Amino acid sequence: MLDLHCHILPGIDDGAKNSEISLALLNEEMKQGVKAIAFTPHFHPNRVSLEEFLGRRERSFEKLMAIPGVSDMGIKFKLAAEIFFSNKLNELELDELCYTDTNYLLIELPTDERPYGLTHTLTDIINRGYQPILAHVERYPYFTSDPTRLYDLLERGCIVQINSGAILDGQKIAIKYIKWGMAQIISSDCHNLKSRTPNLRDAYSYVRKKFGEEYVDWFEKNARDVFTGRYVDMPVPKKPKKVMGIWL
Ligand SMILES: [Fe+2]
Repeated sequence: MLDLHCHILPGIDDGAKNSEISLALLNEEMKQGVKAIAFTPHFHPNRVSLEEFLGRRERSFEKLMAIPGVSDMGIKFKLAAEIFFSNKLNELELDELCYTDTNYLLIELPTDERPYGLTHTLTDIINRGYQPILAHVERYPYFTSDPTRLYDLLERGCIVQINSGAILDGQKIAIKYIKWGMAQIISSDCHNLKSRTPNLRDAYSYVRKKFGEEYVDWFEKNARDVFTGRYVDMPVPKKPKKVMGIWL
């Protein structure tokens, strides 16, 4: 398994507070069979400069790698970021925010309302040669209330990520996104060992039981393709339709 969205780097965001927690999270990931992790600390382009964020991320990564045993865990590591959506992304140099040596960018959206200029900015990013991965799409009410809005972004070239926690909590919309073929990546988005834990293994078990082994293979392949910078081959998703007030 590969975890493409997590907050394991120490002391940089609302994830691991210190190196001890980072190590405990890595041990748990390892125990579950995770072989590759991309670190995705929060980056808010409207709150902090790119240079400052990259400096902090570098120092935090160095701190993590200095912990005895971490480099010998048998896990491949990569740096990335969870970028909070801003129309400012049009003007930003995005290369160093991508999963290292790829053109994939993890982008988080606000949970209250669909941001003004979303389609325009994402299209612009795609036209510049990047591929946005929309983080934990099960959270956004403007997609949940009308999933065709998300479908339109998929058609434009976005990739969709859902959190393993949403699957394990039985959130219907997360299961529907899988059923419709609208979600390509499952990640833990782990922050700590109490409430937002590494939980990929259990989510994959659920997917195996509900959808079958081929779905698990497909999700793992997609995660591998993003991690290694290969093209993610996506079958055309089913467009959701509203029937008697329910999205099917
Ligand atoms: Fe996150």
